[in-house]
Amino acid sequence: MNKHDSERVAGLLESSGLSHGPDIASADVVVFMTCCVRENADGRAMGQVASFKALKDVRPHTIIAVGGCVSQRDGSSLLRELPHVDIVFGTHNVGRLPELLSRAMAGERGVVEVLDGTNDFASDLPGVREHPWHAWVPITVGCDNHCTYCIVPRVRGPERSRTVESVIDEVTRLVADGVREVTLLGQNVNSYGRDLYGQPRFAEILSRVAATGVPRIRFATSHPKDLSDETIAVMASSPSICKALHLPVQSGSDRVLRAMNRHYTQSTYLSLVGRLYDAIPNLALSTDIIVGFPTESEDDFQDTLRVVREAHYDQAFTFIYSPREGTPAAAMEGHVDREVIQDRFDRLVAEIHSGATENNAKLLGTTQRVLVEGASRRDENVLAGRNEGNKVIHAPIPIGRRAEELAGTFVDVEITETHTWFLAGTIIG
Ligand code: 5AD
Ligand code: SF4
Repeated sequence: MNKHDSERVAGLLESSGLSHGPDIASADVVVFMTCCVRENADGRAMGQVASFKALKDVRPHTIIAVGGCVSQRDGSSLLRELPHVDIVFGTHNVGRLPELLSRAMAGERGVVEVLDGTNDFASDLPGVREHPWHAWVPITVGCDNHCTYCIVPRVRGPERSRTVESVIDEVTRLVADGVREVTLLGQNVNSYGRDLYGQPRFAEILSRVAATGVPRIRFATSHPKDLSDETIAVMASSPSICKALHLPVQSGSDRVLRAMNRHYTQSTYLSLVGRLYDAIPNLALSTDIIVGFPTESEDDFQDTLRVVREAHYDQAFTFIYSPREGTPAAAMEGHVDREVIQDRFDRLVAEIHSGATENNAKLLGTTQRVLVEGASRRDENVLAGRNEGNKVIHAPIPIGRRAEELAGTFVDVEITETHTWFLAGTIIG
């Protein structure tokens, strides 16, 4: 969501006559888009903003703007800690940045605008896509769930859905503009439409997006409690919907899941996973896991390891529990020792690595359809792209071709090597 917001910020700034500079040190305007979901991200963003004090001292005319979730949470109090910041804007008013910028450029000090909510969607603003062939398409913003560890509902507000028409219009325009892959976005895409239509219409919007002819569709994130059999059936039957699903489990322990307010158990989660693999045998499943939620015991952690073994994840994002002020979990008793958490975290990561390595090994000798992203960062003679399971795949660039001209096209790669986090092979078509 932050990437999408950032693309809109870039689009707005370009429409206001600014252009992307060669480096930050020579920029006239610097915009930070922040995240506060965990202390780590929060601290890192604030550290970077703080380090710009030195730049501001030598280039006082540089405008520093801070947007995103930290701004939404802290509002004007951000200026007390970081007085060199010129603009603070929240998550609901990205579209107002040009106006706030012109006020700051006219000499106004400490421009702050943070709204409690809005009915506008950043998608309706001009955007500059990071890759011309990929687009983020929010279908909902905000979240109505109350996972006890999570700050998102506070900084992104209640869930609001875009209308079906607005989403389909945007995707149709994107396809005409050469987009090959869209990622539908929402904190919980499965409840899409509930606020507008009285019932979720995610399965429907998924099939309507497929009908636009966009070659590849991804979506994130799916809350396990709301993933319907209808959605699974649409995924299974539409060739353009990637057989990849991000299904955060957070914990494998029923007791911890209850304390997290997740509304499912280990057994309902695993039976959902079973139904998914039955319907979509080649599904690439990914997840988020929090280690060290208050009161988590070794037995609870063993339950998480059990889910990891049984769900055969291709990828898992693992997080050390981070207390967020104002969330119910931050006020709970039983915070777990740092060393205990680190030890569990290391064991969890080892389990995930071995599962992912095993899954990838099964792809040796297969042919994978790859959407090319460009040259690999490690080797300019090698192409990098992703298969529909979102796995990174490398292949030597064919003689006489250039990475830039292949970016955004599909190639077939026969897999000759498998690793934990990527596959490699040769282009056969
Ligand atoms: N501490 C650790 N991880 C968190 N997440 C959200 N809030 C916290 C927190 N307070 C993780 C969840 C979520 C992902 C986006 O971030 O796993 O799915
Ligand atoms: Fe946070 Fe839970 Fe909403 Fe995800 S579903 S954004 S974890 S409250």
